[in-house]
Formats: sequence, C-alpha cells, structure tokens
Amino acid sequence: MSTFTIDTGTSRATPSPVPGKRMTAPSIRLRKSDRRTEQPLVMLTAYTMRMAQLLDPHCDMLLVGDSLGQVIYGLPSTIPVTMEMMSAHGAAVVRGSWHALVAVDMPFGSYEASPAQAFESASRIMKETGCAAVKLEGGEAIAATIEFLTNRGIPVIGHVGLTPQAVNVLGGYGARGREEREAAKILADAKAVDDAGAFCIVVEGVLEEVAVRITREVAAPVIGIGASAQCDGQVLVIDDMLGMFERTPRFVKRYDDLAARIGEAARVYADEVRSRSFPTPEQTYHQKP
Ligand code: KIV
Repeated sequence: MSTFTIDTGTSRATPSPVPGKRMTAPSIRLRKSDRRTEQPLVMLTAYTMRMAQLLDPHCDMLLVGDSLGQVIYGLPSTIPVTMEMMSAHGAAVVRGSWHALVAVDMPFGSYEASPAQAFESASRIMKETGCAAVKLEGGEAIAATIEFLTNRGIPVIGHVGLTPQAVNVLGGYGARGREEREAAKILADAKAVDDAGAFCIVVEGVLEEVAVRITREVAAPVIGIGASAQCDGQVLVIDDMLGMFERTPRFVKRYDDLAARIGEAARVYADEVRSRSFPTPEQTYHQKP
C-alpha cells in the first residue's frame, strides 16, 4: 500500500502522511523488556526522499548513516563526511517518511571534543532535519556525552564494536572481538552506552558470541550489523542489500542485483537512442487535433 500521492502539477511524489504516529525513541526502547525482544526491530539506511518513501512502510527505523560518504559521495571513508551532508540527506529522508523513526549519524569531528560540542551539533541536526534521534560512535569514552544529550532532550543511538570513524585507530574494517581482552572491552563499551541512556545500540562487526553476550546483558535493544541473528534487530546499508556494488562484505545478504539491472536498462536505452527507436510517437508531443 502506498502512503504517498503524486502531485499532478509536477508529476513528483509528495509525502502525504496518513494520520498515524511515527515510531519514537521510547516506543523502540520498549520493544525490549527483561532483556528480551518479542519481534526483532527492522532498520535500514536511507539517504534520499524517494528511497525513504519505499522503505518506510517496512522499517521501524531509518538511519541516515554517514556511510553516505562512500555510498553517495564516493569518499574513501566516513571521515570526510560533513554536517552539511548529514543535514541535507537527513531532511530528505524525514520528508520521505511518516512511520519509521529517522535517526541521523553525527559525522566525525562533530561530537568528540566535549558534551557541549555534541549538544550544539546534535541540536543543529535535529532542527535542520526534523529527525527524532542521532547516532554516535564510541563506548566508555563517549558515555558521558550520551548522558548529557539524553538529559537535554536528544535521543541517542549508540554504536560499538567496529566503529568506522575510528578506522585509523583500528587499522581496518575487520571483525572485532576475536581476543578475549577486546571482546571484554566491547562488552564494557556497550554497557557504558546502555547505562548512559542510549535507547538502542548498534553493534557492528563482532563475533557472534560477543553480540549474543551484549544482547543478553544490556537493557536497550541491540541492532546488529555483521553481528548475530540473535540481536534484538538488524540494520544493513541499503545499497549493499540491493546489490548496488560488485563487492559486498561477507555479512551482507544481497536481496537484489540492482547494479546489473540498472546497467542493462542503460544499455537498452543507449541502443535505442543510437538507433533512433527512442522516443516513439507515444513519448512525443503533437498538436492536439
Ligand atoms: O553509517 C552507517 O550506515 C552505519 C550503519 C552501518 C550502522 O552506521
């Protein structure tokens, strides 16, 4: 069922929200009680209005991830992503959705210096996009900031395990928690973020045993990516799961092969243009009789 109408003046889809309530941080948090989640939470990344429209009916949360750096802008990592990028794409995703909670990633350098810096950046993102939450990376080192934001009206999603903004410290994007010391640190990070008031926690790129322990031991819902089916929910980068790239990480399931289908559509179009078989009379304007 589509929840959006076509504006007949512009032929563009415009969001026309059906009366209903968006998912909220408390409603997401309440999906887990006594360390158990009945129905797993569904989250996907989205970066544009139209993709948000398509994903919204199926998702509890849409994440405007800073993965847009690589996915949309062709950057080598998430490090160069700016507030302006997050703001523009966050606003587009909010405009294209009515049901899912929209969370926007805080870009590298916008929150690490102090809780006050984080509040300034997060409040700007919320004002400019209309999103209902922000996500930031880090564990024990960032817990005080999460508490500061939460106490001042900003719902926060934590992100522990493989934290891509720390790639230069971690030395790569490999799975974390292979050694006991590292596994214990990731668990401590998740607990710190949980105690600080994060309403859910993304756990990325960890061994299954680590993800299961975190899921059992923290109160907030745990959203896994490259983690475990036993997490309280899952998130994937939308372009990865649609098969937009030739190479996908091992933890991604490709639900489509869009790259091949887009390439084929472009090839047929190019052939038809070159052979003058497009446009046909059907796509051509004539004087009305
Ligand atoms: O930036 C992103 O898309 C993310 C998800 C992979 C969790 O942080």
